[in-house]
Amino acid sequence: MADVQVEGLVKAYGAMRALDEVTMHCPDGKFFGLLGPSGSGKTTLLRAIAGFVIPDKGQVSIGLERVEDVPVEAREIGMVFQNYALFPNMTVAENVAFGLQVRKVSAPDTAKRVAEALELVQLGPLGARKPHQLSGGQRQRVAMARAIVTRPRVLLLDEPLSALDKSLRVDMQIELKRIQREVGITTIFVTHDQEEALTLSDQIGILKEGRLIRHGAPRDVYNHPGDAFTARFLGEANLFSGEPEAGGLRLPDGTLIVGVPPGTSTIAVRPESMTLSTAEPDQPNRIVATLRQRIFAGAMATCVLDWRGETVKVIARDLELEDTPEAADVWLSWPQDKTIVLAG
Ligand SMILES: Nc1ncnc2c1ncn2[C@@H]1O[C@H](COP(=O)(O)OP(=O)(O)OP(=O)(O)O)[C@@H](O)[C@H]1O
Ligand SMILES: [Mg+2]
Repeated sequence: MADVQVEGLVKAYGAMRALDEVTMHCPDGKFFGLLGPSGSGKTTLLRAIAGFVIPDKGQVSIGLERVEDVPVEAREIGMVFQNYALFPNMTVAENVAFGLQVRKVSAPDTAKRVAEALELVQLGPLGARKPHQLSGGQRQRVAMARAIVTRPRVLLLDEPLSALDKSLRVDMQIELKRIQREVGITTIFVTHDQEEALTLSDQIGILKEGRLIRHGAPRDVYNHPGDAFTARFLGEANLFSGEPEAGGLRLPDGTLIVGVPPGTSTIAVRPESMTLSTAEPDQPNRIVATLRQRIFAGAMATCVLDWRGETVKVIARDLELEDTPEAADVWLSWPQDKTIVLAG
C-alpha cells in the first residue's frame, strides 16, 4: 500500500491545459473523491497517475517513489475505466485472471487469487458465467475484482458506477466502501455525483478547468467551500451579494447581515440552514422573500422563493407550511454560524 502525491502537474493539449498545476495528496489507505464538471480534467489526472498520460510538467509519487519514468505496468495500479469493458468471450473467472496471467503468476496461485477476489466482491459462484449473463452491478463487480486481483498499491476508479441505476448505485457504493476498507487500499475515485463523493470519501477534491480549486475533508469543504463555484457545485447554496460595511454586509434590500468578517461582499446559505416563518424571527440575519412553490417530499418540503428576482431554495418541515399560501411574503432566517463567507 502507498500514498499518492501529485505536485504541480501540467498537461496541455494544444493551447488548452487539461491539467493546470495540480497538487494533491491521497494518504495511504484513504479514499479520495475527485469531483468536477465534464471536461475539468478528472480522467486526465487519473490517467497521469496511472501512466497512460505523460505530463508536460510536475511530479507523481506513489509511496516514496517518483514514478514519472516508471511504465504503466510497473506502477502497480489497479484501474477501472470510465466505460469499463470486460472481455465478452471470456468467463468471469478468466476476466479476473487476465492480469495475473500477463504477470506470469503460476496456475495454482492464479486460481486461488481469482477465487479470493470473486469472494471479496461476492461473486464466488458466478466464475463460469460470461459477462452477458450478468447484471450491470455484477459486471461492475467483476471489473473491481479484475482491478484488485493483482494486489495493486493504488486503485483508480473513473466513474465506475455511472452506468448503474439509482438503487443499484447506492448498493454498489456501500459495497465499494466495504471492499476498499477490507483491502485497505489507497483509492482515488472520480464521480459526477456530489452525494456519492460526500458519502464515500475521506478526502475530496474539486477540479475546475484543470485546476484543483479546493480539497479537504468532505465536511470541511461542504461547510467552508471558499468560493461560489464550490459552494454551488457541492450541494445547493443560496448566494447573496452586497456592500461591505463596518457592521457587516449590506444587502440591496437594506438588510444588514451581521457576524461576518470585515470586507465580506458575498455569502452563501444552505437551503437546510434556513428557517421559513410567517412571524418575524428574532434572528438578525433574515430576509423577506415571496413563496413561489413548495415541493412536497414527505416530512420535508423544498420551497422555492423569489427574493428580488433571484431564486432562493429552502428545505422546511412541511407541517410549518400547511397554511402558507403560495405568493405570500415570508421571513427567511438563519443562525450566524450558518453564514458561509465566500471570496470575491
Ligand atoms: N487526448 C486528448 N487530446 C486532446 N484533448 C483532450 C484529450 N484528452 C482529454 N482532452 C481534453 O482535456 C479536457 C479534460 O478531459 P478529461 O477527460 O480529463 O475530462 P473529465 O473531467 O474526465 O470529463 P468527463 O466528466 O466528461 O469524463 C477536456 O477538455 C478534453 O476535451
Ligand atoms: Mg472523465
